[in-house]
Amino acid sequence: VKTQLLIPAAGMGERLGCDGPKALVHVAGKAMLVWTLARFEPLGLVDGAVIVFPSPHEDRFAAALDEAFPERRFRLAPGGPARQDSVANGLAALDPDTDVVVIHDAARPLAATSSIRASIEAAVAYGASTVAVPCVDTILESDADEWLAGTPDRGKLWACQTPQTFRVDLIRQAHERAAQDGTDAGGDVPSATDDATLVQRMGERVKLVMGTRHNLKVTTPADLEWAEWLLRGEESA
Ligand code: C5P
Repeated sequence: VKTQLLIPAAGMGERLGCDGPKALVHVAGKAMLVWTLARFEPLGLVDGAVIVFPSPHEDRFAAALDEAFPERRFRLAPGGPARQDSVANGLAALDPDTDVVVIHDAARPLAATSSIRASIEAAVAYGASTVAVPCVDTILESDADEWLAGTPDRGKLWACQTPQTFRVDLIRQAHERAAQDGTDAGGDVPSATDDATLVQRMGERVKLVMGTRHNLKVTTPADLEWAEWLLRGEESA
């Protein structure tokens, strides 16, 4: 089964307040993207990785990757206005004979190798999987004026993570369908913030794979502090 890695890394980190691409922000001494890719080394996936970069910054991405992984070859694809567009561009850049694609956010530098492996195994068996963790917080739904409108049953809620892994034909079909439905940045339906949702909307099943709470998405300055602390702890272990 030929498996490739697709890393959406085209975010500009507005909520992080950083000046430049979020994936190149330094955490525990290295670019976040470098930590993220290193999680896939034990599985041999880094060699077949497509990195989706924010358009004006191709040179900086190429230089950072070359410095950290001089032996490896990456395919770089330009990002789009929303994550969904970036992933669609990355899918178009996979090797044509790829069977399975592992999609993982550059902003998650702490994915466990065991969850990555389980996600791939589930996608090979069922076609589509996402790593996720059961919600520990009670989730509140608000109305437009920030009044409590409802409280979904926490027992059924999971917090979505990545990797999300798919048979390539299935995820390409889901993205084509989403583009037709207008679920991209140019459309009137909100663009999807993950890919498993697009597959499920098509009526296909997606297997949930248990993740870890360490696999946080670096979004705010507080997340960056947590990631720094966790990565330094791993290094000194
Ligand atoms: O914005 P957020 O942190 O949810 O983004 C999740 C991932 O999607 C990040 O790794 C980010 O770089 C990527 N992204 C992208 N293209 C965009 C927006 C986000 O590749 N236009």
